[in-house]
Amino acid sequence: MNVLILGSGGREHAFAWKLSQSKNLQNLYIAPGNAGTANCGTNVNISVTDFDSIKNLVWEKDINLVLVGPEDPLVKGIHDFFLNDEVLKDIPVIGPKKDGAQLEGSKDFSKQFMFKYNVPTAKYGTFTKETLNEGLNFLETLQPPFVLKADGLAAGKGVLILHNLAEAKNELKQMLVDAKFGNASSKVVIEEFLHGIELSVFVLTDGKSYKILPAAKDYKRIGEGDTGLNTGGMGAVSPVPFANQEFINKVEERVIKPTIAGLNKEGIDYRGFIFIGLMNCNGEPYVIEYNCRMGDPETEVVIPRISTDFLDLLVGVGNQTLHEKSYGTTEQTATTVVMVSGGYPEDFSKGFEVKGLSETNGSQVFHSGTKLEGDKVLTYGGRVFAITSFGNSIEEAVTKSFKNAEIISYTNKYYRKDIGKDLMALSK
Ligand code: AMP
Ligand code: GLY
Repeated sequence: MNVLILGSGGREHAFAWKLSQSKNLQNLYIAPGNAGTANCGTNVNISVTDFDSIKNLVWEKDINLVLVGPEDPLVKGIHDFFLNDEVLKDIPVIGPKKDGAQLEGSKDFSKQFMFKYNVPTAKYGTFTKETLNEGLNFLETLQPPFVLKADGLAAGKGVLILHNLAEAKNELKQMLVDAKFGNASSKVVIEEFLHGIELSVFVLTDGKSYKILPAAKDYKRIGEGDTGLNTGGMGAVSPVPFANQEFINKVEERVIKPTIAGLNKEGIDYRGFIFIGLMNCNGEPYVIEYNCRMGDPETEVVIPRISTDFLDLLVGVGNQTLHEKSYGTTEQTATTVVMVSGGYPEDFSKGFEVKGLSETNGSQVFHSGTKLEGDKVLTYGGRVFAITSFGNSIEEAVTKSFKNAEIISYTNKYYRKDIGKDLMALSK
């Protein structure tokens, strides 16, 4: 089979690495890819939202399956574009259509969906410019901290957590009236704050059946001890010690089954990943958000733990035979440590030469933001690498990741040295 992966991050490198181990893979293309994906297949310099160029590529290279990494092309309707095209309509796209992608693309849609299908989540209200006063009143009924969410996609910046009421009211006005996040904040969801420990559970579904992929914990803040600005993710660990089988069973019964049943009732034919962001509140799962894709850097620990053929699972998603596919995971712990460009998540410089890659050992180095220039690897993003390692404990795994993060060098390198530390303390 010939496969096309859309995206250019660590997630897509992990997909490419795993697919390149599949016995049925013939040619692999990644658009646009990075210096790491170039070792697994052929990069093609096309944007993930340039649907016409993607069509030409699929046609030209005789692609049999398309795996979509990021949410943007899904929310913009790449799957619908394929289904509505005479030439493309029979080529499976892994990732939901526009209707299913609303689970991520609209916070209001996803909250309504959760309430309709009894999926446990924080209580909320949705407000617009016209109902600003109701929104201000609703804030008065909540205890701090206050959670404000822009309804639409806002490049991961649309969620604000505020500690005092006056500040929350002011931000609500800025979002609704001053369009702080543009059109994305023309509706704002205000939510009750959930106290607990966060984790993510990933589901692969063909719309009828599903496989529960390994759970992972992500480290979102830039600074050690979970301080400083939010990032795309600075590291991840899988499995998550506090997500034991009893907890996962609750997630399956209370969240996964009603979600799949709800999608069916809504007439949404969902084929792809569902990323369920959860809060574990005293052992009870509450959904913080859905995403219509895999997480990054969670993919860099989740996918390596899958011990069966990944392409076979994706084929099952495409033709709705997922229930027939064998699926297994390794018991070992995987950790990933994300190396970033100093300054990230704010302004940073890129284009620095990376050294030491060939001296790493005992880890899988996934590229997140790199570019090839001749035979040189240059930094090309905020997140540059995700260093994934296996071990019999978090400590054993993460020690290998840190060792290799030390070996790799580039100007303004930074990574958190406390990935997994909180979980090690919990599991002692
Ligand atoms: P989201 O984009 O919805 O994942 O929100 C970003 C982050 O804000 C989440 O990962 C949580 O850490 C936090 N968050 C969102 N909603 C809540 C909530 N209702 N209670 C507590 N924390 C939240
Ligand atoms: N690491 C969180 C995300 O991919 O959204």
